[in-house]
Amino acid sequence: MSDTYHWWQTGIVYQIYPRSFQDTAGNGVGDLNGILERLDYVKSIGVETIWLSPIYPSPMADFGYDVADYCAINPLFGNMEDFDRLLEAAHAREMKLILDLVPNHTSDEHAWFTASRSSRDNPQRDWYIWADPAPDGGPPNNWVSFFGGPAWTLDELTGQYYLHQFVAKQPELNYRNPAVRQAMLDVMRFWLDKGVDGFRVDVIWLMMKDPALRDEPVNPDWDGRNTQEKLIHIYTNNLPEVHDVIRDMRAVLDEYGPGERVMVGEIYMPYDQLLNYYGADNDECHLPFNFWLILTAWDAQAVRAQVEEYEAALASDQWPNWVLGNHDQHRIATRVGPAQARVANMLLLTLRGTPTCYYGDEIAMQDVAIPPEFIQDPPALLQPEIADEIGRDPERTPMQWNAAPNAGFSPPGVQTWLPVAHDYAQNNVAEQEIQADSMLNFFKALSFLRADEPALHRGSYATVSSGADQVFAYRRDAAGHASFLIVLNFGDAAHTLDLSSAGHRGVIEVATGMQRSGELDLDKLDLVADEGLVIRLT
Ligand code: NOJ
Repeated sequence: MSDTYHWWQTGIVYQIYPRSFQDTAGNGVGDLNGILERLDYVKSIGVETIWLSPIYPSPMADFGYDVADYCAINPLFGNMEDFDRLLEAAHAREMKLILDLVPNHTSDEHAWFTASRSSRDNPQRDWYIWADPAPDGGPPNNWVSFFGGPAWTLDELTGQYYLHQFVAKQPELNYRNPAVRQAMLDVMRFWLDKGVDGFRVDVIWLMMKDPALRDEPVNPDWDGRNTQEKLIHIYTNNLPEVHDVIRDMRAVLDEYGPGERVMVGEIYMPYDQLLNYYGADNDECHLPFNFWLILTAWDAQAVRAQVEEYEAALASDQWPNWVLGNHDQHRIATRVGPAQARVANMLLLTLRGTPTCYYGDEIAMQDVAIPPEFIQDPPALLQPEIADEIGRDPERTPMQWNAAPNAGFSPPGVQTWLPVAHDYAQNNVAEQEIQADSMLNFFKALSFLRADEPALHRGSYATVSSGADQVFAYRRDAAGHASFLIVLNFGDAAHTLDLSSAGHRGVIEVATGMQRSGELDLDKLDLVADEGLVIRLT
């Protein structure tokens, strides 16, 4: 890795789910002007890059991941002038803005699909994946939707089925058709010409499917619950040809200056496959999302093993990244509890590589229980028996800004699109800004230390033996700069540790409790339950 680093390597990415950040229109749904209003807040927590979940026109069958027009703004969120203003304001604050690109599927209300479904000989018929019914009239093969049920829907008008790995209103584009590829590259150019700083690309690893539409093998370990897990997805996920598509996308980004605009890819794959998405010549994703902090059991040794495996597998020109939460996963503070949420954020912000943080995690927002009659998320509606497990509404609730009604997200009296957390009067940004030891101030202390210290935002990583099963320790070093030792107690027992292999003395820079400071002897370090420390080695 060279001595010069790109913004997407050193800064923190903050994901905003626009429906839930700030409502200025007073309709219970967040909007672009709301994000503009809160931009200084985002800057104040030490974040450099904002990733916006989709803001395009959409019937909202999958809350914006069903795009009806790739080059416009959904009136629910505002208009193109609002967007331009937001982009300009972000850039004026030396922040970056990346958009969610959803190329795998469109809405069934997109003009491309309306044309495609109109007749079998429409010139755009082949833009989507159509197939004849099986001999019994059923779906062409056994493929299933991620959200439940078959991945095929029969279109009565032309008597063929179309493919959708999500809801039926999300037909999949056919990337074996060069015209489709070109059309999506032009969409990218449209936004890049406007000045957006890159894309997070939705389900990038699903963009190619087996042209023979072969049945997928049945998973012998399936427990009979989530239909998505019923098959082994060898013909719909991670096909080798997908890399050609991604290379073309990367080439478009590079037209704007190598490394200037970023491509982040959504890929749920083990490391041996995930790393292929950097490209054989580092010519695909800059950051193939690494979700393994989310997918791994919250255990010091399991997490340490993940970090070591990733670090060992990465080539020197492959930049690491870590994700702790997103709009598809239960909130970190709910998954591991509030005390460990501090440890988790300390880990996220001190590992080597770009951290991605989900809005509200900086104040330890929790999942919100959604009464059955308010459930909106398609997978929860399609598989109600496992809604608690797979439903995503709980982690998408309105941002908790202050103790006013609706938590300052929507004006008082407005029905918000999802319920606001019951504890919002105690747990909100305004409250946490004034409490010295709040989660928010803890997050800021970490993010600013990370920005100031080269070892933390670009230094090397090395595991340090802690001698305790529930304690994960590592150091970060950058030649010519201060070195840091990070010690994380994943358990609820106290420990006295000998960390002298990392050094003998140190000074606490950030502690999870925000009250501990001062110098330490590293050969006899006392760590209380759930405690994490960032220590400057002296
Ligand atoms: C992944 C997105 O993160 C998720 O929210 C969405 O439902 C699916 N892709 C389909 O676009």
